[in-house]
Amino acid sequence: MRLAIFGNPVAQSKSPLIQTAFAAQFGLPDFEYGRILAPLDGFTEALQRFIAEGGQGGNVTAPFKEEAFRACDRLTARAAAAQAVNTLKVEADGQLLGDNTDGAGLVADLNRFCSLAGKRILVLGAGGATRGAILPLAGEQPAEIVIANRTALKAVDLAAVFSAQVDVPVRGVALDQISGVFDVVIDATSASLGGEAFPLPASVFGAGCVAYEMVYGKGETPFMARAQEAGAAHRVDGLGMLVYQAVEAFELWTGLRPEAEPVFALLRNA
Ligand code: ATR
Repeated sequence: MRLAIFGNPVAQSKSPLIQTAFAAQFGLPDFEYGRILAPLDGFTEALQRFIAEGGQGGNVTAPFKEEAFRACDRLTARAAAAQAVNTLKVEADGQLLGDNTDGAGLVADLNRFCSLAGKRILVLGAGGATRGAILPLAGEQPAEIVIANRTALKAVDLAAVFSAQVDVPVRGVALDQISGVFDVVIDATSASLGGEAFPLPASVFGAGCVAYEMVYGKGETPFMARAQEAGAAHRVDGLGMLVYQAVEAFELWTGLRPEAEPVFALLRNA
């Protein structure tokens, strides 16, 4: 099977390491997973060339997830809701299927700490990362999902879009007007990428709360520090989300579900 990850930059991606380790779990012969640095204005061409040369699918990372969404012939429901694609598969009839496994990866990682059923979930940010997360989160039947964003209107609009699609209450509020106590607080803003802080009341972190930072490898971000001060029971970065989105992608390509745990160990030692 011939797969690759497309991105720009792409050299930093851990997906080849993760996917190759998954393939080794099953002793899959001829499993190839490469990196393709697509030009910023040349993603679709790079993808078409890869497929013409026998590529059967792959992953997509920044900044091409929205372009990949537009390039697909078919979409899974979660990719359609996310309006972004991180996983591609050339199907038996030659059509290109787009999936988005990021939100499922987030849910699988959160499930290591708690069940989400009946819980109150706060998602900070209303960009692409949040858009990909809401449908999979709602599928766990939480009591409520609140989206809080610096630009309040984006949170309100996104909440309205998802309210119409799911049977869980979804509300949008301004970042500086959050009220209530939550069981799970997810930082899906891009603030931590630049080490930027934003105001967040300590009272949002309930007893036993999971504070989840979607980015990984950024150490003690302002959000993580805030969660620590507030006494959040679990503080988790997005490494597990990365591993579990890869589990979901591998399963889509091969029909086999790999073990995540050995890959955690591999990444910690990498
Ligand atoms: P992504 O695809 O990573 O979600 P995005 O679509 O550009 O990226 O969205 C970034 C999100 O982070 C937005 O919700 C943005 O808030 P605005 O909509 O108000 O721009 C949020 N964000 C970025 N920097 C932030 C900061 N310093 N404080 C609070 N929110 C921030």
